[in-house]
Amino acid sequence: MRDVVVVGAGGMGRAWLDTVARRDDLRVSAIVDVSVEAARAAGDQRGWDIPCVASVDEAFAAVGRPGMLLNVTIPEAHRAVSEAALRQGVPVLSEKPVTPTVSDALALAAVSEVTGVLLATSQSRRYSAGIRAFREEVAAAGGAAQLTALFFQNPRFGGFRDEMESPLLIDMAIHTFDQARYVLGADPVSVYCDEFSPPWSWYRGGAAAEAVFRFGDGARFSYSGSWCADGLTTSWNGSWRASAAAGSVTWDGEVGVSAQGREGDPRTVRVGDAEEGLDAALAEFVTALDGGPTPSGEVRANIWSLAMVEAALASARTGETVRLDDVFAAASHHAAEAARAAGDHAVADAIARWDGAPPR
Ligand SMILES: NC(=O)c1ccc[n+]([C@@H]2O[C@H](COP(=O)([O-])OP(=O)(O)OC[C@H]3O[C@@H](n4cnc5c(N)ncnc54)[C@H](O)[C@@H]3O)[C@@H](O)[C@H]2O)c1
Repeated sequence: MRDVVVVGAGGMGRAWLDTVARRDDLRVSAIVDVSVEAARAAGDQRGWDIPCVASVDEAFAAVGRPGMLLNVTIPEAHRAVSEAALRQGVPVLSEKPVTPTVSDALALAAVSEVTGVLLATSQSRRYSAGIRAFREEVAAAGGAAQLTALFFQNPRFGGFRDEMESPLLIDMAIHTFDQARYVLGADPVSVYCDEFSPPWSWYRGGAAAEAVFRFGDGARFSYSGSWCADGLTTSWNGSWRASAAAGSVTWDGEVGVSAQGREGDPRTVRVGDAEEGLDAALAEFVTALDGGPTPSGEVRANIWSLAMVEAALASARTGETVRLDDVFAAASHHAAEAARAAGDHAVADAIARWDGAPPR
């Protein structure tokens, strides 16, 4: 039985509490939230008599060091919460984005390396039977040279997303970008991105974007997205098409995967059963703690999905194609300087040694 401290008792935090409760080898030993009332309410709703406190330190003081910590706070709190746990030797599975910036993510990756403690991000949309079948079919067709995702949705959230800068690119596109990395099994080199809003948009920031990424193996990934598209909406996973040497493969974002080669009729690809979403992300993380393979969202890999967002934003701002290497170089410089200024030389040295993206 492994103890889990869950930090953040908002909508997603409560979903994680139930995800942990579905496993018989894990138990939630404490809930942390700056709003202790929110933590207490989440515990009470589940009939759990466990400490509900305001900080990671208080939780560890009350129940001892747990086997792992789930960071389900708001993005701005991710770095401080994850760092507090890593520094005390507690492995962290964090909600996306691992941090709001690549610079902060590099700093956390360095803390993970210096302490030797695992940090991974849960990108729940890379775990579904549909995307798995799509990815396998694309690989069987020789790998995609062109991959396209359409994401057209029309949520009326109200609240912070209506007011923030770049709501689509910052809050949502990281999922689709991460899915592209998963499908292609490669990392991007550069991006050109045009961000805008149609006249009828109900968001203050850019609610639509067109982006083209070039990947290291020469593949192109193009993304067309909008968060103010009424009618004929796509799945929240988007609608996908891959063009490969041996034919084409499509995925409707749910369980509809189709393929067709140069000859023959289109065929429906069998989509198997698979553990999905949060359950799958948690299973992968626990397996790693038990000595299994490194999770696919381990910070040094996941940082590339965050860098895709940062590079797309930089391209939208400048109107230029942006190289991921340049994003990592600038972030690396900033993160190393900040660590050095804070007197954290081990972290600063690790970041300076990488001189860009952390090696895997
Ligand atoms: N994977 C997905 O599909 C998905 C969906 C929704 C949200 N998320 C992510 O989950 C995270 C949480 O989102 P949410 O919708 O639950 O937000 P939320 O605002 O409903 O809840 C966040 C909670 O964190 C608490 N909190 C803030 N700072 C804290 C700190 N320093 N220490 C402890 N608690 C703190 C807040 O009081 C709040 O209760 C975000 O990173 C978000 O991007 C992921």
